[in-house]
Amino acid sequence: MTPEVNRVHIDLADRSYDILIGAGLLDHAESWAGLPSATTALIVTNPTVAPLLAARLTAALKPRFAQVHIVELPDGEAHKDWPALNLIFDALLGAACDRQTILFALGGGVIGDMTGFAAACYMRGVPYVQVPTTLLAQVDSSVGGKTAINHPLGKNMIGVFNQPLRVVADLDTLDTLPQRELVAGLAEVIKYGPIADAAFLDWIDTNLAALLARDKPALAHAVRRCCEIKAWVVAQDERESNLRAILNFGHTFGHAIETGLGYGAWLHGEAVGCGMVMAADLSVRLGLIDAGYAQQLRRIIERAGLPVVGPPLGMARYLELMRLDKKAQAGQSRYVVIEAPGRAGLRNADDKVVAQVLEAHTR
Ligand code: NAD
Ligand code: GLY
Repeated sequence: MTPEVNRVHIDLADRSYDILIGAGLLDHAESWAGLPSATTALIVTNPTVAPLLAARLTAALKPRFAQVHIVELPDGEAHKDWPALNLIFDALLGAACDRQTILFALGGGVIGDMTGFAAACYMRGVPYVQVPTTLLAQVDSSVGGKTAINHPLGKNMIGVFNQPLRVVADLDTLDTLPQRELVAGLAEVIKYGPIADAAFLDWIDTNLAALLARDKPALAHAVRRCCEIKAWVVAQDERESNLRAILNFGHTFGHAIETGLGYGAWLHGEAVGCGMVMAADLSVRLGLIDAGYAQQLRRIIERAGLPVVGPPLGMARYLELMRLDKKAQAGQSRYVVIEAPGRAGLRNADDKVVAQVLEAHTR
């Protein structure tokens, strides 16, 4: 049976591409049609995802490629680093892969970010396809071409912009996702409401139970709407000179939590969930939104099962980590704030106000 495919187009001149969203796309020949001709494919994945999905992707790619190789990177945010990245180059060179080779990122955001980065570097650039298998990756990280690895001093600090050829988001791959990971992905889903679509936040409020129960039509709607919003933002500001920063709502606080605790202690989505509570409170303290809207957002985040209270890193450490954020200019942290329900912007904020926010939302 031919699966139902939702297509979202990312309009970026010669770097434009489609996001394909649907159940059963992995095994469907049409998902891979129209890719440039190449003899070799390299699937980049990890030991958790490989036993679940690598054989299916290999079988789907076999008719198009003379050789399909697989490399497994160690699983986890703690391995989003140079040694793991180098394993991709070892595999490419070990198999004498040429410049036409296409990389396939089969996994969550860690695999996607690392594969995109490796693709930009190998022989000064080979194409890659995103095959996201976590909710977070389907609604956010596989779309828009941000690639990176972490540095011990800061999250996602080493990387490049590199757009994929295509994104194939098979909703069925989410069936095996641990519940904690699904919940972490919901943080990025929730994010799109306050920054771009007030009605979408209300839809999430109403449909949260269905999303938590992995109801396919609910997931299909959420993934599609998130990708549409991300496509709209990225098409206007691919390299984040301004507007794209709104996609980092909650991330300045969240990245501080992730780096401060050590990568992997909290999941990225968990840190973003808590960071959004803090960023919404900052928006209230700056006089931009009513406390009631911040409370609605906090309630949804909490009902989703995400943390709403930050870990006790210490005030000075939080502020120091936030000054390292990529949005900072001349040592001054800048924050994504909600300007009105469904609209976000960037603001400077005095450390005193930020300290009040942290005081109110950390243990
Ligand atoms: P992840 O890649 O670590 O995946 C989460 C866990 O789920 C891993 O253990 C993984 O092996 C496992 N997994 C993946 N697919 C599975 C499946 N179908 N069934 C069972 N288990 C599965 O984490 P993530 O939440 O997907 O991504 C987080 C990363 O994404 C962070 O490094 C973050 O910085 C990055 N990110 C990047 C962007 C971007 O624009 N590039 C945006 C948001 C987040
Ligand atoms: N997730 C932030 C961005 O893609 O810009």
